[in-house]
Amino acid sequence: VVATELTLHGSRLLIGAPLTGEGAARIQDAAARHRIALVTDTNVLPLHAAPLAARLGVPAEDTFTIPAGEASKTRAEWARISDAMLARAFGRDSVVLAVGGGVVGDLAGFVAATFMRGVPVIQVPTTLLAMIDAAVGGKTGVDTPAGKNLVGAFHHPLMVVADPTTLTTLAPTELRNGLAEALKHALITSEDELAWLLASARELSDPAHAASPTMAELVARNVRIKASVVERDEREGGLRKILNAGHTIGHAIESVAAFQAPHGECVGIGLRIEARIAELAGIAGAGLADRVGAALSQLGLPNAPQQRMDAATVLAATRSDKKARGATVEYALLEAVGRPAGATRAFGTAVADDLVLAALAEALDA
Ligand SMILES: NC(=O)c1ccc[n+]([C@@H]2O[C@H](COP(=O)([O-])OP(=O)(O)OC[C@H]3O[C@@H](n4cnc5c(N)ncnc54)[C@H](O)[C@@H]3O)[C@@H](O)[C@H]2O)c1
Ligand SMILES: [Zn+2]
Repeated sequence: VVATELTLHGSRLLIGAPLTGEGAARIQDAAARHRIALVTDTNVLPLHAAPLAARLGVPAEDTFTIPAGEASKTRAEWARISDAMLARAFGRDSVVLAVGGGVVGDLAGFVAATFMRGVPVIQVPTTLLAMIDAAVGGKTGVDTPAGKNLVGAFHHPLMVVADPTTLTTLAPTELRNGLAEALKHALITSEDELAWLLASARELSDPAHAASPTMAELVARNVRIKASVVERDEREGGLRKILNAGHTIGHAIESVAAFQAPHGECVGIGLRIEARIAELAGIAGAGLADRVGAALSQLGLPNAPQQRMDAATVLAATRSDKKARGATVEYALLEAVGRPAGATRAFGTAVADDLVLAALAEALDA
């Protein structure tokens, strides 16, 4: 049984479809007239990809495995997989089946977007972050020495099959990375969404409970939120930027920490500091930042970086954010829970440096 089924830009999004049953059957149907090139990483291969390949009858030689980790999201791996597919005589009838986290999804999606000028991709996300964020919305790509995700393409998947029971093997830190994005989604959506997330926080932050209906509901709620933002963006222009909430400061902290701190932790901290920036700018009422801080604690996420860093360094790092337009750094701020600020300026708000510095200093010197 598929618990939840949605459509986005022609992609079928199946949530709660077990890869050991209905999920595999649906992939088989979708790939019926195609030859499957399965892409995965070294961690996911034995856990979830090889069993799925066996069910689908994909030979071991048609499974292409990258070393686990962000360091594999490169043009070199894109070329290696593309060349290996050509060497195995894959043609226009190929379908790329991406089984893994966001790294595999982004890289394999980019291979599919470019192979023979584009073949379909089926995404089978196996991290919470990939299920609720990376696999939804059609962005694919690779990192370059100049920065992350700078080369890529939009390539909407034919199908996304999210089986939350695969999360039982995920490391707790990786689960928390996804929960930070879920907190972002709740904050930009509504009080009800935030209340649901926090009521379930204890259960959701433990991978041992990942096979529970609560986890499937978390994934379904969050896929809905992201899909609805992506869908409405086409008409409203700029709405997709609200998905950057927490990410201007989050990315800056991540880069000051030399990418050694988990993305989700940095985004969580970014959500809190950006809420404080909104308070100081008079955009949000008092108390929003404290509520975000309390939510982080409930989800097992830190309120401040582990590593010492000073406000001026983090402020400087916001300037190298690729989303910065020219010299102005834009923030996706909230007026309140469920109320993104700046609808009349495409949901981006420029903030004076002294306000950002003040919010950073409070958070980092505490
Ligand atoms: N395309 C988009 O719109 C979008 C959105 C957000 C993030 N991203 C990208 O996603 C990437 C991050 O994705 P991620 O957090 O999934 O990282 P990841 O793909 O590196 O996975 C994290 C770790 O978990 C392991 N893993 C994956 N599934 C597992 C499972 N079920 N059990 C045990 N281990 C498992 C992986 O091998 C890896 O070591 C970044 O490159 C980011 O840029 C893309
Ligand atoms: Zn993120």
